[in-house]
Amino acid sequence: MKDTQSKRQWSKRTRAVHQGTRRSQYGELSEAMFLTQGFVYETAEAAEQRFIKSGEDEYIYARYGNPTVAMFEERIAALEGAEDAFATASGMAAVNGALTSMLRAGDHVVSSRALFGSCLYILEDVLTRYGVEVTFVDGTDLDQWRNAVRADTKAVFFESMSNPALEIVDIAAVSEIAHKVGATVVCDNVFATPVFSDAIAQGVDVVVYSATKHIDGQGRCLGGVILGTKDFIRKTVEPYLKHTGGAMSPFNAWVMLKALETMDLRVRAQAASAQAIAEALDGHPALERVIFPGLQSHPQHALATRQMEAPGTLIAFDVKGGQAATFKILNGLEIIKISNNLGDAKSIATHPATTTHQRLSDEQRDALGITRGLVRLSVGLEDPEDLIADLTGALSVL
Ligand SMILES: Cc1ncc(COP(=O)(O)O)c(C=O)c1O
Repeated sequence: MKDTQSKRQWSKRTRAVHQGTRRSQYGELSEAMFLTQGFVYETAEAAEQRFIKSGEDEYIYARYGNPTVAMFEERIAALEGAEDAFATASGMAAVNGALTSMLRAGDHVVSSRALFGSCLYILEDVLTRYGVEVTFVDGTDLDQWRNAVRADTKAVFFESMSNPALEIVDIAAVSEIAHKVGATVVCDNVFATPVFSDAIAQGVDVVVYSATKHIDGQGRCLGGVILGTKDFIRKTVEPYLKHTGGAMSPFNAWVMLKALETMDLRVRAQAASAQAIAEALDGHPALERVIFPGLQSHPQHALATRQMEAPGTLIAFDVKGGQAATFKILNGLEIIKISNNLGDAKSIATHPATTTHQRLSDEQRDALGITRGLVRLSVGLEDPEDLIADLTGALSVL
């Protein structure tokens, strides 16, 4: 039994608590975890029929779909304003699934060059291995997008806010450029978060998230999701993913589903703290620069304000004195943990040059502003005054 029939269009926060709920015969209030791989059919004829055409809420095998996973998919699709969603084993399974399911040898893709290391691997190494041509552009330069798209461009790809240097791509303008040549716009929206971004309304065709980040928000499970039209999700993405094995596990879907109930409150609190921390660090004598879209000094502050409801939960800062000085500061932190996840309740500091973006060449890192002094800070749910004290205490070592 589904719990979503309603005449009213409830707000995002309300949908995040209720949308997609399926109740068993017991009428449980909290969503049940259907930890099952398979499903039983009344008769052999019913099994045959389901393999020919399965209706809504008729399942075959958890790699194809599962009621708990379906609850998560319906809830996140409702939040994002997408017609449909397919949940995946990780964020990278989502990026790979969205692109690989639609592309063929001979297709052309235009991508922003400022990407998370694993996204870059898919664009630079995997797709090209199968005969897809990829042109990289500076995602902040609309002329480069205009010059790169061609009649045979099948897709454009970008992180709406890049990892780790927080460059912002103009979603509406790039979507318009892509649509003029009939290309599909695929946006990795992790840093913008489902709370602050309205990417589909701004022109994006396919949104991907690593659910591992703000959606879980408490560092427990890997997951991802691809959002788009019913046609794209069911005719292009689903056949590819159900046969290649990138589906989300029902256990992880249950964790993500329940986490969506609190995501709005968590992410808003984290973003408010991020703004306070960025303002406190701005101009600190030990720092070369503080990068945060909520600061006037961010080169795309106006675009960020127009495109997102709030500038997010991540800050980057460049420490004077290179890697040695930066490691000293990282090692001096008490509350903030040295790790490489983000969007967690626990604040996390990452040194991209030696971890998440280690694989890149020096030239690639230079082009993206990933210096030896760059720190990516994911702001968590601790008291912001404690986080500021932790950071300024560590910085005082210099
Ligand atoms: C922008 C971006 N996309 C995708 C991913 C991959 O997500 P996952 O680790 O869930 O595979 C990450 C992870 O850090 C990311 O930052």
